[in-house]
Amino acid sequence: MNNRILVTYATRSGTTRGVAEAIGKCLSEADATVEVQPMKDVSDLASYDAVVAGSAIQGQKWLPEAMQFLRNQQVELAQRPFAAFMVCITLSMANAEQYREGLKAWMSPVRGLVRPLSEGYFAGALDLSRLPFSFNGLAMRLPVLMGIWKAGDHRDWTAIRTWAESLRAELLA
Ligand SMILES: Cc1cc2nc3c(=O)[nH]c(=O)nc-3n(C[C@H](O)[C@H](O)[C@H](O)COP(=O)(O)O)c2cc1C
Repeated sequence: MNNRILVTYATRSGTTRGVAEAIGKCLSEADATVEVQPMKDVSDLASYDAVVAGSAIQGQKWLPEAMQFLRNQQVELAQRPFAAFMVCITLSMANAEQYREGLKAWMSPVRGLVRPLSEGYFAGALDLSRLPFSFNGLAMRLPVLMGIWKAGDHRDWTAIRTWAESLRAELLA
């Protein structure tokens, strides 16, 4: 038995790639061959037994290219074990736990296309020097100035690993 698992991600500034790589590393320690790829480079799922897909959150949504990936691969994803994760800054807040249930709604459009066997919710990172000079990028600076969000890398590698370990039973045949 040597399952082939794809861990695929959509990112704007790299945080979600790091989360995907950590998930991939953990799964590869089980009886699996794991590939970690950006969604934009994935066109065919035929060679994979299971898929883990994750996106950075912007405006309380998966990135548009991540939703497009799900639409393009909806049939293929429904035919194999599928898990989904998101990376956002809300979960870095001191009182994040009170938002955890509510932000599961951000996964609803994903569930509407393909129902994941498991969902992972992770704190990301905010690098003010890398925020775009768009309206949304400027809007992101405001909660930082107000002290609601803190700049920096808030990824919780233990939480990410714990979720990835829980996936082994779900994804490996
Ligand atoms: C324009 C913009 C909008 C964002 N909107 C949200 C949001 O609505 N909720 C949230 O919790 N985080 C939001 N974030 C924070 C990102 O999800 C977080 O910084 C994440 O780690 C970025 O991942 P990436 O480096 O893979 O792109 C936003 C970030 C940016 C730049």
